[in-house]
Amino acid sequence: MKSNSTYIITIDGTSGSGKTTISRSLAKKLSFSLLDSGKLYRSAGFVYLQSKEMFSDLNSINALISKITMLSNSDSNEFEIFFDNKKIDHLLYSEEVSESASIVSKIPEVRESMMKIQKRCVKGRGLIANGRDMGTEVFPEANLKLFINASLDIRAKRRYKELKNKGEDVTLENIYKSLQKRDESDTNRTISPLRVPDNAEIIDTSDLKPDAIVDKILNLYTITKN
Ligand code: DC
Repeated sequence: MKSNSTYIITIDGTSGSGKTTISRSLAKKLSFSLLDSGKLYRSAGFVYLQSKEMFSDLNSINALISKITMLSNSDSNEFEIFFDNKKIDHLLYSEEVSESASIVSKIPEVRESMMKIQKRCVKGRGLIANGRDMGTEVFPEANLKLFINASLDIRAKRRYKELKNKGEDVTLENIYKSLQKRDESDTNRTISPLRVPDNAEIIDTSDLKPDAIVDKILNLYTITKN
């Protein structure tokens, strides 16, 4: 193991590839903390929706972002998000916040502030960090880097089923198009685009069940930790 005593696993990948499910299961099995960086960018999107006019200058952006904090929940191991000391995790998954997160995640000052918040999550015996640039930009020193993907078709069908089960009025075609748009934006943006980190293990989840993927990653962890 490298000199850093916190073992870091990064899990980057496309929207809907199963990163969150896999990260949660791994964090539980390994008793590691879980940083879902998408949630952090969503919180910046949430703040942007409330104070768009203040995103015009650097000082105001920094002042607003400084009110975002993360705290580890000892039951779930997950870092939870607070804005102005109020927990906001449950407010971050509307379509409006998703779109706003996609806009603010392209602002360099926002990414710089997020970088500092994310680095502070490195403590304890281990950290699972998932997102788009965890293995490339934020934790290039990670002990184990993974890149998770699945075909657009499969991801759209999974998301459709998930939202239908929640009773949401969605169509497969719209979900397909929205994922396609997010892939395009994530991979083609100039700042921290989604790409496979050097030395990453690529896992295609199209034909694999989450349990099989988690087992595969646990094996990689066992091999690399010594
Ligand atoms: O993974 P997600 O859908 O919750 O991510 C929300 C948004 O944040 C999405 O537009 C991509 C962006 N994001 C990012 O730019 N960098 C990250 N490390 C994680 C997410």
